[in-house]
Amino acid sequence: MNARAEVTDFWAMVFNPSSVDRLLHVWTGAFLAGAFLVLSVNAYYILKNRHLAIAQPAFKIALGVATLFSLTQLFLGHRSAAGVSVNQPAKLAALEGHFDSTAVADMYILGWVDDETQKTTGLKIPGGLSFLLHGDFDTEVTGLNTFRPEDRPRQVNAIFQFYHLMVAIGLTLIALTLYASWQWFRGRLFDKRWLMYIFAWSVLLPQIANQVGWFTAEMGRQPWVVYGHLRTSDALSKAVSANQILFSLILFILVYATLLVLFLYLLNKKIKHGPDDDPTPETIGEGSKRDNPLFTH
Ligand code: HEM
Repeated sequence: MNARAEVTDFWAMVFNPSSVDRLLHVWTGAFLAGAFLVLSVNAYYILKNRHLAIAQPAFKIALGVATLFSLTQLFLGHRSAAGVSVNQPAKLAALEGHFDSTAVADMYILGWVDDETQKTTGLKIPGGLSFLLHGDFDTEVTGLNTFRPEDRPRQVNAIFQFYHLMVAIGLTLIALTLYASWQWFRGRLFDKRWLMYIFAWSVLLPQIANQVGWFTAEMGRQPWVVYGHLRTSDALSKAVSANQILFSLILFILVYATLLVLFLYLLNKKIKHGPDDDPTPETIGEGSKRDNPLFTH
């Protein structure tokens, strides 16, 4: 292959038809991770009745951001799924455990895929996937059986579960933020301690969604590294042995595990310490209430 063809292939791969959808979906996932971290830390302060002059307005700002991005993520997730149905149809079929091409495609809320018998069971909206992709409940959707066994992903149940967990978390984030926004509108946001408990733990949800989303995208694309062009088995380096890969993987795990422990330790210390320049660490002074336009609940 000449140099010009290699450069063209490189750009075609980087700016492939799914690049923009995926970039926006991952960015929004990162914004959600950030917004829910802020919500969590401030919910913790509110529960402990500490740093309220800062915690309550900060919670409200983060709630606005989280509500906006939770709703945006549903739209972007749908766009990603529509793109996958065109560019990676075998992956789309795996996401919903859809094997039979001649059938309309159901959308599962919860379910289980038996990889051996190729049967999917669970709570479903009949024709729901057909509707989401084609706007009517009766259109057929390409099933996994259209593809040769060597051209389709194997662990369909795992892909199905990761995908459905991501979507379930996405919908939970929407429900949670809309409910909290409604309480804010009614002036009752900080009255419900149980809601603050949920927000204190909610920091985990976008983190989990980002991980399982990534598993969905990567496992769903197998056996391809570049869908339809380059197989994972052909992308392996012949110069690097399996043991060398294992060794570097173990090193990476050790380095990142150490960084994670350090990060959690420092973050915890910082959260326990609280904002440096909070003038009223324990309670809200009337002055700070009056001066702060966001403090109106
Ligand atoms: C709300 C419903 C959601 C839908 C319908 C949805 C849909 C999808 C689809 C179809 C993919 C695969 C894209 C591909 O392979 O090209 C994907 C991947 C992904 N999703 Fe979601 N998603 C949703 C919610 C979320 C949420 C809430 C997060 C994180 C907070 C998230 C984070 C991710 C990530 C990180 C990936 C991997 C992207 C990549 O590696 O390119 N998703 N999502």
